[in-house]
Amino acid sequence: MSKAKLVVMISGNGSNLQAIIDAIESSQLSAQILAVISSRANVYGLQRAENHRIPSIVFYQTTTRADYDADLGDFVANLKPDWVILAGWMRILSMNFLRHFPNRVVNLHPALPGQFPGTHAIERAFTAAQQGQIDHTGVMVHLVPDEGVDDGPVLATETVPIYHDDTLETVEARIHAVEHQILVDTIGKLIKN
Ligand code: GAR
Repeated sequence: MSKAKLVVMISGNGSNLQAIIDAIESSQLSAQILAVISSRANVYGLQRAENHRIPSIVFYQTTTRADYDADLGDFVANLKPDWVILAGWMRILSMNFLRHFPNRVVNLHPALPGQFPGTHAIERAFTAAQQGQIDHTGVMVHLVPDEGVDDGPVLATETVPIYHDDTLETVEARIHAVEHQILVDTIGKLIKN
């Protein structure tokens, strides 16, 4: 069976990118990363790509959002990926991009479906827990059909508890550990289908 071809899109630290790389290198995932695309320069995720000799590119917005998404869509489509993985990609993608990859764009978000969409989801969940509004948050992996923010057909979810003695750092660490596993597991299921 040929390896699934992935493009991984990031905006920051890239710990989820690292989880995918590690799963590929340990043969847990039968996949290859064609390229890492970052919306920001000088982020550690780019260093991770370089460490593993994976081609990477920073995609700056120099034009309108519509043109940026169209250019990015053309660039990624030319790579001919089987799956586009948004692993901490912090920009909303419009149909100019998404039309190239129907049912092929997968997003990871550190909250349960419908809760805390957008940025700072973990911080917002932690604050809600401190105010006694929730005692858990979670992680989801979903398809990206349109411009809805962290919304779309759910592929996997996992609940993550928030304890009374947690700090933001302990919650973040718990969530990231779950993310690394659920993202790799979900990609594994997708590429077997
Ligand atoms: C992850 O927590 C991911 O779920 C989140 O960005 C972080 C990236 O971490 N994505 C979103 O919030 C999307 N709205 P990483 O760069 O260490 O993989």
